[in-house]
Amino acid sequence: MEKRAISYGRQTIEADDIEAVTKVLASGMLTQGPVVEEFERKLAAYTGAKYAVACSNGTAALHLACKAAMLGPGDKVLTSPLTFLASANAALYVGARPDFVDIDSDTLNIDPLEVEKKVKDSPSIKALIPVHFAGAPCDMEKIGRIARERGLIVIEDACHALGASWTDSRGETKKVGSCSNSDMTVFSFHPVKSITTGEGGALTTNSRKLYEHLLSLRSHGVVKHSARLFKPEGLPWYYEMQDLGFNYRLTDMQSALGLSQLGKLDRFISRRAELAALYTRLLSKYQFIKTPAVSTGGESAWHLYAVRIDFASLGASRKDVFELMSAIGINLQVHYIPLHLQPYYRALGFKPGDFPKAERFYEEEVSLPIYPLLEDEEAGAVVEALLSTLACASASQPKRGQACAI
Ligand SMILES: Cc1ncc(COP(=O)(O)O)c(C=O)c1O
Repeated sequence: MEKRAISYGRQTIEADDIEAVTKVLASGMLTQGPVVEEFERKLAAYTGAKYAVACSNGTAALHLACKAAMLGPGDKVLTSPLTFLASANAALYVGARPDFVDIDSDTLNIDPLEVEKKVKDSPSIKALIPVHFAGAPCDMEKIGRIARERGLIVIEDACHALGASWTDSRGETKKVGSCSNSDMTVFSFHPVKSITTGEGGALTTNSRKLYEHLLSLRSHGVVKHSARLFKPEGLPWYYEMQDLGFNYRLTDMQSALGLSQLGKLDRFISRRAELAALYTRLLSKYQFIKTPAVSTGGESAWHLYAVRIDFASLGASRKDVFELMSAIGINLQVHYIPLHLQPYYRALGFKPGDFPKAERFYEEEVSLPIYPLLEDEEAGAVVEALLSTLACASASQPKRGQACAI
């Protein structure tokens, strides 16, 4: 069998997924239709939230959430510096100002103590966007309590975390997306995520008001339902644009894929968890590699398997390791360059040193390949290659970075 290239993440598409999409193609309904609604119902049922709204991608979902939360100029939104650009950009889209709190170096999620301190000092903070980094749930009970005390909106960025769960202080297990301590939760169905629709995203909420607003914002701010019209005309073609919305719709084709994938989500997550356990078993004996913390009270969706490598004390170069691994068909990734270090955010006043824990993590992070189709032997080969390339790339190697026999 030909050796496949290994990437840090990839989708799992099976024959029934293809069949589900083909069925929609043959049905004649290509845009938003009944399959979107079915996908939304099943997603709400899976997460335990009352409502779900599907949309074109996770970034659009974050934008819709900020808009439905009525955030705008003069408002500050707190999120993690250790996330994808979209978590903070969504605040900018609505004219609000993103700000950050540093991570907890163990959980890699925003530190609730830091959140508490920051919201006390800054009355313009109106919303929190906690990010479930790598799929590991944030401490939503603490975050929810802080938000309730200050009347803040909470939008969970769960783009890494569909399928994750956590157990609350009363012993009840909640799925990420249940919105038990938040106003809305946002998901992405990009191919490397827990399930895919190609591009795609969704929001869940327990608020009827937010749900209806999100539905309308997803489609140009238009309202058609007679009970919600300002001026019911009784005309069959009549609709009203009641807010400035967008075309952020998901199609029936994409939703058919999403529905089919949703039925496999638990299987995908258990396979990811098995691979994570395997990596941890193989790597934990090496002192220069820090494996992800074992979660207490939460089950990760294992979107990423993020290790920390002390490159500085090994005298090794991460760039060399990446290049050597890539040369043998193993593609690693780094998550993430802290947002506040991006040129756009520096121009807004952020600077190196502002969030030292996220910065330190970035210096050391490597995301190892993890996805349901990755086989145990492949994960083993990743570990072996990583250890050999680290030896090759370390300063003690005379031919550092050159054709190492790995
Ligand atoms: C944490 C986080 N938030 C938001 C997004 C945006 O999702 P999408 O790519 O579907 O727009 C991503 C995607 O990578 C993400 O990782």
